[in-house]
Amino acid sequence: MKLMVVGGGGREHAIIKKLKENPAVETIFALPGNGGIAADATCVPIGATDLDAIVEFAKNEAIDFAVVAPDDPLVLGCVDRLLEIGIPAFGPKANAAILEGSKVFSKNLMKKYHIPTAAYEVFDDAAKALAYVKEAELPLVVKADGLALGKGVLICETREQAIDAVDSIMNDHKFGKSGDQIVVEEFLTGPEVSVLCFTDGESLAPMVSSMDHKRALDGDKGLNTGGMGTVAPNPYYTDDVAATCMETIFLPTIRAMQSEGRPFQGCLYFGLMLTPKGPKVIEYNCRFGDPETQVVLPLLESDLLTVMQACVNGTLAETDVRFSKGAAACVIIASGGYPESYEKGFVLHGLDENGGAEGVIVYHAGTKLQDGKLVNAGGRVLGVTATGDDLRAALDKAYAAVETIGFDGSFFRHDIGARALAAN
Ligand code: AMP
Ligand code: GLY
Repeated sequence: MKLMVVGGGGREHAIIKKLKENPAVETIFALPGNGGIAADATCVPIGATDLDAIVEFAKNEAIDFAVVAPDDPLVLGCVDRLLEIGIPAFGPKANAAILEGSKVFSKNLMKKYHIPTAAYEVFDDAAKALAYVKEAELPLVVKADGLALGKGVLICETREQAIDAVDSIMNDHKFGKSGDQIVVEEFLTGPEVSVLCFTDGESLAPMVSSMDHKRALDGDKGLNTGGMGTVAPNPYYTDDVAATCMETIFLPTIRAMQSEGRPFQGCLYFGLMLTPKGPKVIEYNCRFGDPETQVVLPLLESDLLTVMQACVNGTLAETDVRFSKGAAACVIIASGGYPESYEKGFVLHGLDENGGAEGVIVYHAGTKLQDGKLVNAGGRVLGVTATGDDLRAALDKAYAAVETIGFDGSFFRHDIGARALAAN
């Protein structure tokens, strides 16, 4: 079979490595892929949002199955376009990807179908929004409606921060059209859990739970990032919590999307907060999380391609989706200065010796081949992942490998999994 994976980060590398385990897979094209993915797939220099070029390529190559991994092409309708020309494609159509593409849509959906989430107000007028945040209870959270590279959520502890947040999004158009509308919501507290689910629109199969570490520095200090590391499973996500989430959040969401004539097929990511009043939805993503995928897929025992095909064909209920009992940890190695500006082009060292250590997988996020050498080419560069019988074992292995890999200016967090270990 000839496969195509749209995207080029650590998440896509994890998906590609897992898809390759199926012996029927002969070729995988990555659009655009990256320097490290090139060792596992054929990279094609087509950007993930260049829908015309993606569709043309898929047609010319007679692709048997496509996976669209990032949010932007999904929201733009990449899966719709591939299905139209008869290419089976994993991921939601645009009318379902809106669950991530518009926070106003997702909040209104949750309200309509009584799915627990933070109380909120929607504004499309800056003056009204400003008047509201001048009076509202603090802290509060201001969210741009549309996609904003993961930066559209502002937690405001003071009145000034709240006013600045509204000003920068609605008056200064910091996130362009994504900020034409905003959601202002109640600040929630509690442990956060990520749960990715396979779904064919009717049935749903949750994957092993995980915990992201969004801040750049140890002790949850520093700026928010795309994620500096993950562990799975998440110890706060007990069987009881899982049962509550299935009944009050997961199934109601799938049914709500069906009722709205927007069946969701693909990977639906639930960003949850376990509040004192029970689990609530912080956000939906219409795709696999990054770097959650890097700890979830190594624990998947079932064949990924078979499960993805079942999501597209509507046969998920009859398909085995099983995870191992072990644990996984992923530590991100980032470029010095990330998530702000950083220098690119430094040669990576330590990969040959340690990339292949038993139970360790190095996923490439922002790497590039330059004169035959791998160099850093993004903020998050590598995701060093290890599996083990338990979290301690997985973390020890991942960190042993991380210590020996690096490049000029590289850094990583030293406390990935510390909170999870303390909770165990
Ligand atoms: P997001 O970009 O939607 O993933 O949000 C980024 C982070 O902001 C989340 O992971 C939470 O830690 C935090 N967050 C978002 N909404 C809320 C909320 N209503 N209350 C508290 N924290 C929030
Ligand atoms: N790790 C969070 C996300 O993928 O949005």
